[in-house]
Amino acid sequence: MQAVDKTGVEIIMNNAIREYSLIKEMADYLKEKAGDFVPYVLAILGSGLGNYVKSESVRIAEEIAYSEIPGMPVSTVHGHAGKFVLGYVGEIPVLFMQGRIHLYEGYSEQEVVRPIRAAKLMGVNKLILTNAAGGVNLSFKPGDFMFITDHISSFVSSSLRGENIDRLGTRFPDMTEVYSVRMKEVYDKAVSQIGAEPKMGVYLQTPGPQYETPAEIRMMRNLGADAVGMSTVPEVIVAVHANMRVFGMSIITDLGVEGKIVEVTHEEVQQVANSVQPKMALIMRELISTL
Ligand code: HPA
Repeated sequence: MQAVDKTGVEIIMNNAIREYSLIKEMADYLKEKAGDFVPYVLAILGSGLGNYVKSESVRIAEEIAYSEIPGMPVSTVHGHAGKFVLGYVGEIPVLFMQGRIHLYEGYSEQEVVRPIRAAKLMGVNKLILTNAAGGVNLSFKPGDFMFITDHISSFVSSSLRGENIDRLGTRFPDMTEVYSVRMKEVYDKAVSQIGAEPKMGVYLQTPGPQYETPAEIRMMRNLGADAVGMSTVPEVIVAVHANMRVFGMSIITDLGVEGKIVEVTHEEVQQVANSVQPKMALIMRELISTL
């Protein structure tokens, strides 16, 4: 990318500088649009979970379509709305992403996580992630909630790949405690209150978009995974890099368990996720008010 320095000489911007300026441009645009609304939390709503913002527990202040935001990739997946929703949960201002950006859509690692970094530049330090995931753990069933305790992303290229953006975080971030342990208690209590059993486990990220073969599911179980999905980890990694507190929750929408494997379709995944939304609304309210 070409830019001009103070003396009018053209300079080549390196990738980290270019990326940072795109993130900043996005953050400035969102700030301007948000006005007095200063978000405290960024909450990403996964497949089939986007309608949460229409529930009684969210008071919507503003909506901003991804397509109008400079530097923002646009969600191409059917059923993913593609907008930011600025809404209050109780008194807490939350920036919602209704529709996330996935690597399998063809976007680069940097593009996928740009909105998380923009939120950081807006002053947001808390991130809540939700996703629809396949059950790998033999005891899971569709409709279960899983608190993400840890992740495996070793097979997918890192969202920190490329020149480090030093202004956001360190080159080699530690990943010993990625998911907020403190939130586990809040999650347990919230899930118990809705009469469900609180589950927890390790989320394994695949590049997608294809679902897994039975052999892959067996391998994932042997590796220690409890659920599998195509998202979340890229966002989590840049959040930890930028020193944000992270909470992640999967909705188990289908099972890769021998004897229980059924063919998965995107529509079924969305249907199951959609059906748990009333329960999820209650859990989200507890989480957001405690984060
Ligand atoms: N695999 C990967 N991603 C998913 C699945 C699955 O079974 N279900 C929902 N998202």
